[in-house]
Amino acid sequence: MPVRTVREQGVGEAEDALRSRAPGYADTVFFDELRAREYHRLDATGSVYLDYTGGGLYAESQLREHLALLQSRVFGNPHSTNPTSGAMTELVEATRRSVLRYFRADPDEYVAIFTPNCSGALRVVGESYPFSATRPYALTWDNHNSVNGVREFARAKGAPVRYLPFATPELRIDIEQVRDGLRNVPPGLFAFPAQSNFSGVQHPLELVAEAKDLGWDVLLDCAAFVPTNRLDLSVIKPDLVPLSFYKIFGYPTGVGALIVRREVLARLRRPWFAGGTISIVSVQGEGWHYLEDGVAAFEDGTVNYLSLPAVDLGLRHIESIGIERIHDRVMLLTGWLLEAMTGATHSNGAPLFHVHGPTDTLARGATIAFLLLDDQGRSFDYQLLETDAGAAGISLRTGCFCNPGSGEHANCLAGDMMGPFFGRPEPVTFRQMYEKAREFGKDSSALRISLGIATNFADVWRFMQWAGTFRDRGADELH
Ligand SMILES: Cc1ncc(COP(=O)(O)O)c(C=O)c1O
Repeated sequence: MPVRTVREQGVGEAEDALRSRAPGYADTVFFDELRAREYHRLDATGSVYLDYTGGGLYAESQLREHLALLQSRVFGNPHSTNPTSGAMTELVEATRRSVLRYFRADPDEYVAIFTPNCSGALRVVGESYPFSATRPYALTWDNHNSVNGVREFARAKGAPVRYLPFATPELRIDIEQVRDGLRNVPPGLFAFPAQSNFSGVQHPLELVAEAKDLGWDVLLDCAAFVPTNRLDLSVIKPDLVPLSFYKIFGYPTGVGALIVRREVLARLRRPWFAGGTISIVSVQGEGWHYLEDGVAAFEDGTVNYLSLPAVDLGLRHIESIGIERIHDRVMLLTGWLLEAMTGATHSNGAPLFHVHGPTDTLARGATIAFLLLDDQGRSFDYQLLETDAGAAGISLRTGCFCNPGSGEHANCLAGDMMGPFFGRPEPVTFRQMYEKAREFGKDSSALRISLGIATNFADVWRFMQWAGTFRDRGADELH
């Protein structure tokens, strides 16, 4: 009997095929039970959620436990020493300890600073790092805009900014080129993501130790990595680790952290002070203030204190499942998707997808960037696709996902094409850039799907069914 393609199979048949082909898949049945128990709202609303790199989903028990805590206790602003304040301070500090414990960071070596999100953590780094003409900022092309944005702080202090390019069509970095870029120049701050929020590529973590050996301070952006991977700071020892908690366990939003090595923290200089960051200050003299020691000097005003215990609950939830198990589950589903996507064709044999980045599961995460192509190889309009997917109950991401370096490299948009968009009196929108790029036969957009803790087989299967509706349709017919 001829093998039936994914397009022709039903969901049960396709999942059975995966079960028999990937023996480990049967062991992940736990996640289907977990979804029914904790993420029931997905099925109750018919949602296919495929934007975990945008934001994770919370388990219902996280909400219940947090609400029960808030309903049963009285908490005040932790900046005082009264009983309600003391009770809150205890929970804030317990959460700080559990963050370090979760990432296996030695408290004698690292501290955790609470911030509003990963971008807030990056802002603290940008404004406090001692950039100078001899202390540059080096970063890979593959970075989120909140890491790119740190270059403005560097420039303001007269520091050289150096981008280290991609080298392969898989959107990986060329490790030799990066090494060369870091050697033979005075060291400063080097930033790269553990996992790309664009392509899901996981960059070699051995670069952390190598760059440090060359004298660089290393910022490892872990926002897209930690939701489905173990970050073990007893093994990999970056100096600065920014992240957002909602990306790992969905709730609460509005809390992130900068995990920083104490030795580097001592070299950061805050450009201002705020409530909570100073020991004493006087209004009667310039510079009459003392910053607090340690983390307090970096947490402006009042931290999001009622939400912090929910971070502890979220970490416990992930620990109760095991991040390695989550990793294995999402990678099995990612492997199935990559195979289905690269095997999908139009009647004339032309591919239905172009996957940006690796098409196998080696050194990558559960985030896939792609273009949907018609039978002449032309890409469908990203906005029409997002609307169409939405109508089918599918939440995916389109645009460039705040990662212009990956988008430009993936879509072959050279500097001479990008340059004319800048320096105009009026800002150019992404849509205007997209339309202009199309005139040159280029695409500046992409689509992205990303998997997480509650993804099940039906989600990825429904995505493929939806994509299949574009089979043998023309991009112009839809544009
Ligand atoms: C790799 C990476 N870094 C940084 C950020 C910024 O995170 P936030 O928007 O929570 O500040 C994101 C968000 O998607 C990300 O994926």
